[in-house]
Amino acid sequence: MTSNIAHRIVQLKRDRKAILLAHNYQPPHIQDLADITGDSLELSREAANTDAEVIVFCGVEFMAETAAILNPNKTVLLPRLDAGCPMADMITAADVAAVRAQHPGVPIVTYVNSTATVKAESTVCCTSANSIQVVESFRDSDTVYMAPDQNLAKYTARHTKKKVLHWEGYCPIHHHLTVEEVRAQQEAHPEAIFLAHPECPPEILDLAHEVTSTSGMIRFVKESSRKSFIIGTERGILYSMKKMNPHKEFYGASPRMVCADMAKTSLEDVLRALETLEPRIQVPEEVRIRALKAVEMMLRISS
Ligand code: 13P
Ligand code: SF4
Repeated sequence: MTSNIAHRIVQLKRDRKAILLAHNYQPPHIQDLADITGDSLELSREAANTDAEVIVFCGVEFMAETAAILNPNKTVLLPRLDAGCPMADMITAADVAAVRAQHPGVPIVTYVNSTATVKAESTVCCTSANSIQVVESFRDSDTVYMAPDQNLAKYTARHTKKKVLHWEGYCPIHHHLTVEEVRAQQEAHPEAIFLAHPECPPEILDLAHEVTSTSGMIRFVKESSRKSFIIGTERGILYSMKKMNPHKEFYGASPRMVCADMAKTSLEDVLRALETLEPRIQVPEEVRIRALKAVEMMLRISS
C-alpha cells in the first residue's frame, strides 16, 4: 500500500514538474521520497533556485511561506495546512512594529521561523545556520534586535561583540529540554558526545560539544571520528543520521523532543496535494514584496 502511494507520488511529481522539499525533521517515509532534505537555510536556497513549477513543501507553514515569498509564479503546496510552528505564533507584525518604534534605527533580525507578515516588518531574516553572520553584517550598528527566539538570540550574543536585544519567544520542543535529561543520557552513554541546536537554552548549550543547525549536525556526525552522539534536537533527524551512518549510534537527548507539527505530514497528504494542487500557500503581494527584501538580504549575506 505504502509503496503504491510512493510510486504514484513519483509519477505525479514528474507529470506536475514538481519538486519535493523536506525538512530534516520530517517522518522517514517523507524524507525517503524527497528530492532534497535540509535545514531551513538550505531549503530556502533550493526554493529560490528551483526551476520546478510546483514546490511541495514537507515541513511547517513558515517554510512553505518562505518558498512562496521567493516564488510568486510557482505553485507552493503545504500538504498539511495545520502544520504550524508555535514559536512563529509568539510574535505578530504589530509587535515588530512596536519594537521598531521603541528602538529606532536598530536592525531587526528575524528568525525564518516567523510568519510572512512578521518578516515583512523586519530588516533581515536569519536561520540557525547563519544568525551570527547576519548579525555581524551590520557594521554600523552596535545593537541589533532578534526575534522571536530568545535562545537563538542568546546563542548569537555569545559570538558577537554587538548588544543583542531579543523577543521572549521560544520553541517548546527545545526550550524545555533540561540539564537533568542531558546529564542522564550522558551517564547512560559516557562514550557519546552531545550536539545541541541553538534553539536550546544557554544552560543546555553549555553542555554541548557542538552547537549547530540541523544540517550542521548531520554534517558533523558524518565527518566525526566519534562513534556515538546524543542529539539535542527534534527526533525526526535521528532517522537520516542513522541511515547515513549505520555503524554509528544516535540517542535523542530527551524522548520529549517531538514536534507534533513536523510529524503530521503523511504520504497520503503528499499524494492528495499533488493530485489536487491544494493546500496552496499564497502570500498577499504587498506583504510578499516587503518580506522578500528581508529574505533576499539574508540569502545575499550568507551566500
Ligand atoms: P534548522 O534551520 O536548523 O533546520 O531548524 C529549523 C527548526 O524549526 C528548528 O526547530
Ligand atoms: Fe517550530 Fe520548534 Fe517545531 Fe521547529 S521544532 S517547527 S521551531 S515548534
